Amino acid sequence: MMTAGHDTLFFRIKDPMDVAKARREGMQMSMGLGFNQADATKIAVVISELGRNIVNYAGSGTITVIARSETNGKKYMRIIADDKGPGIPDVERVLAGGYTTSNGLGLGISGSKKLVDEFSIHSEVGKGTTVTAVKWLVK
Ligand SMILES: Nc1ncnc2c1ncn2[C@@H]1O[C@H](COP(=O)(O)OP(=O)(O)OP(=O)(O)O)[C@@H](O)[C@H]1O
Ligand SMILES: [Mg+2]
Repeated sequence: MMTAGHDTLFFRIKDPMDVAKARREGMQMSMGLGFNQADATKIAVVISELGRNIVNYAGSGTITVIARSETNGKKYMRIIADDKGPGIPDVERVLAGGYTTSNGLGLGISGSKKLVDEFSIHSEVGKGTTVTAVKWLVK
C-alpha cells in the first residue's frame, strides 16, 4: 500500500534572486520525489522561465511547487506561476513560440511546454496570468 500525500513550496517572486531560490528548491524537491537529474533540471528550467516572466512582465507574483504521490504509486510535480500583471493578449501566439514583447527570444513559454507533460495558461488582459505545468515521474 502506497502512502498518498503532497508537499508544497510557496515563493513570492519579485526579483531574480527569488527566481533562483524557487529554481533551486524546486529542483531539490523534484530529486527528493525521485526525478533523475536530467528531469529535475527540466523542472528547474520551467520554474526559472515562468519566474523570469513574472519579474519581467508582471513585476511580482507567486510560484507554487507541489510534489505529489498518489495512492496508486504515481508521482508528479506541479508548478503554478501566478501574477496580477498586465496579462497576455494572444496566448496562442505566445504558445507557438518566437513571439516577444521584450528583447527575449520568445521561447520561454513554448520551450517550457516541451519539457513537461501538461501545460496550460489562463490569462486575462488587465487582470493577470496563471501558468500551470505538470511533469509525471516515469520509472
Ligand atoms: N506573466 C506574464 N505576464 C504578461 N505577459 C507575459 C507573461 N509571460 C509571458 N508574457 C508575454 O509573452 C511573451 C513570450 O514569453 P516567453 O517567456 O515565451 O518569451 P520572452 O520572455 O519574450 O523571451 P525569453 O525567450 O527570454 O523567455 C513575452 O514577451 C510577454 O509579452
Ligand atoms: Mg520569458
